[in-house]
Amino acid sequence: MPLDPAVLRNALAPGGTLDTLDGRFDALGTRYSGKVRENFSRGQERLIVVTDRVSAFDVVLGTIPFKGQVLNRLAQHWFELSAEVMPGHVLDVPDPQATRAIECTPIPVEMVVRGYLTGSSSTSILRAYERGERSFCGHALPEGLRPHERLAAPLLTPSTKAAKGDHDQSVSKDVLFERGLIDPETFGELEARVMKLFAFGQAEAAKRGLILVDTKYELGRAPDGRIVLIDEIHTPDSSRYWYADGYEDAMAKGEPPRALDKEFLRRWLVSKGFLGDGAPPPLSPEIRTEAANRYVELFEQLTGRPFEPDTEAPQERLARNLGLG
Ligand SMILES: Nc1ncnc2c1ncn2[C@@H]1O[C@H](COP(=O)(O)OP(=O)(O)O)[C@@H](O)[C@H]1O
Ligand SMILES: [Mg+2]
Repeated sequence: MPLDPAVLRNALAPGGTLDTLDGRFDALGTRYSGKVRENFSRGQERLIVVTDRVSAFDVVLGTIPFKGQVLNRLAQHWFELSAEVMPGHVLDVPDPQATRAIECTPIPVEMVVRGYLTGSSSTSILRAYERGERSFCGHALPEGLRPHERLAAPLLTPSTKAAKGDHDQSVSKDVLFERGLIDPETFGELEARVMKLFAFGQAEAAKRGLILVDTKYELGRAPDGRIVLIDEIHTPDSSRYWYADGYEDAMAKGEPPRALDKEFLRRWLVSKGFLGDGAPPPLSPEIRTEAANRYVELFEQLTGRPFEPDTEAPQERLARNLGLG
């Protein structure tokens, strides 16, 4: 269901979305501000506040009403579902847009899994294919693939974590080994697990009429030595989703599949001439509204439950729920 227009109007007004957190929150631990999330580390725990900021092509564009709530709750949903395949870092969810997690030592490799030949950024497998490349991260690609076509089998295309402001770099596993980022044995183990996780995610999404197109996993070592899933899982910030219904039709017509993720925002940016470099165009109220409704739609489609937005002013609610008075 689309969001109530009155609720949206309030959320679009200044202070209605969560952009940054004020200094009070520094009492929560050592802060690391990501593009979208504010992370606070304190000993064995990490508090992750999912703001309403939205990024595309690794650039923050502005905020989208209720995006933090949708992402945090979707990650929670998937962490719970996928625990049988691989344990996650979640301890509890003290606020609709915050998660308390186990502080882990991150494995410095992003485990990207791709089921389809798609994407719009210059680093995507589709752009590489269109440039004539027939090897991607060490995987041979056959001739004659069409844009958005399903790959014969999902591919693991790891990327190195870029420093803030830089783009991540897709590499073959041999490059990871050469750089000493991970050893072949650990990589082999993690590869098997994330491929299983992706198959699980695709099967669950299929039950809901969705295609999990591609995603990115991050893993870390917990204090007890176990390797667990950290960060977020199968959210629209880390994954692409398409409607299963209509996919074949779109392919037959040579059109892009109907997406339920940030792809429409990327396409909107591309239509404005923005490909990731320079200043992004400002988000209009219309595009923010459309984005909010799409995030809500994805939540409802994936979980089968209505999205009930918490409409309290986010910063004050968070301060209270996180024990800051
Ligand atoms: N439980 C965890 N333990 C340790 N590090 C984590 C955990 N969860 C996430 N991280 C790391 O914290 C960082 C969070 O950054 P993020 O908010 O995604 O911002 P960005 O990716 O824009 O830099 C990532 O490097 C991620 O790997
Ligand atoms: Mg990140």
